[in-house]
Amino acid sequence: MRHFITTADWSKDELQSVLQVADRLKQDRNQCLLDGKTVALLFLNPSLRTRASFQIGAHQLGAQAVVLEPGNGAWGIEFDQGTVMDGTAEEHISEVAAVLSRYCDMICMRAFPMFQDWSYDRTDPWITALVRHASVPVINMETIVHPCQELALMQTLREKLGEPAGRNLTVTWTWHPKPLNTAVANSVIMIATKFGMNVRLLIPNSDYLLDESFMAAARNNAADADGSFEVTHDIDAGYAGADVVYAKSWGPITFYGDADGASNLSEKYKHFIVDEDKMSKSNNALFSHCLPLRRNIKATDGVMDSEFCVAIDEAENRLHVQKAMMLHLLGVNASEVRS
Ligand code: CP
Repeated sequence: MRHFITTADWSKDELQSVLQVADRLKQDRNQCLLDGKTVALLFLNPSLRTRASFQIGAHQLGAQAVVLEPGNGAWGIEFDQGTVMDGTAEEHISEVAAVLSRYCDMICMRAFPMFQDWSYDRTDPWITALVRHASVPVINMETIVHPCQELALMQTLREKLGEPAGRNLTVTWTWHPKPLNTAVANSVIMIATKFGMNVRLLIPNSDYLLDESFMAAARNNAADADGSFEVTHDIDAGYAGADVVYAKSWGPITFYGDADGASNLSEKYKHFIVDEDKMSKSNNALFSHCLPLRRNIKATDGVMDSEFCVAIDEAENRLHVQKAMMLHLLGVNASEVRS
């Protein structure tokens, strides 16, 4: 059985096939190809786009989605094996996954890292446990990676740029008042290199390097797809020649578990904000961000309201790529999708 946990498990050709179906679904949204199917959406963290797009997407395909928020209307879940459950969690993921697998045809889950111990969080223990105990396909709605966001980004870049291979994409770190998840940054460097782009990671200093597993994946992808992957700390060099600027904030992994230390360090780099002056140094680049975004913290009003900002297009495309992935995982052949 196939799951969609990380794009590292999927070839470029497989992902391109899903994107082609997403393009068709964008032209013709309501196709009852999952009539009578049910999907569980487990949210351990807040969401606007992911929740709305999965619920609406399931509805447009004729399926029923049920949203469950463990710890808030549904029982809190324990994920570790062999734990004496004397804390707040009322049930174990083994029963949650088994029961939902009896009710549903698919389980999707969002479970952000805990920001205490990166050596633990980097193993993605929550979605791994769900996959271990589920007997239906699982989709990752964001853990330490955000694969659905990756597909939405690639659908957007293909629409705006045509073939993305050989184009230059800069992922720029930006300031945020509190340390955030590295998931989207990990995901963007992996998908852009997989599709043959020349990817630059612009970060204030080595504290903001991403986990070596994702950096290595990006380097390997670049080698396989004739692209490139490099790191720079120089803002001008980061923007020079960029066809796409992708902004994201994340907490420095060197200060993982130390929110005050991370915030004190990041305060020094507020000037990494994406503004019109920096964008003018690019190659008339598109700008995007996964959203939500704090205006005039991560990017200025001028950038967000510009014609080159494609963040809303990318957010829309979450709907289409997720529907295409649900169809794929549930065995609907691409030829059944109207165009
Ligand atoms: N980009 C994204 O996943 O948005 P939400 O957190 O609102 O779902």
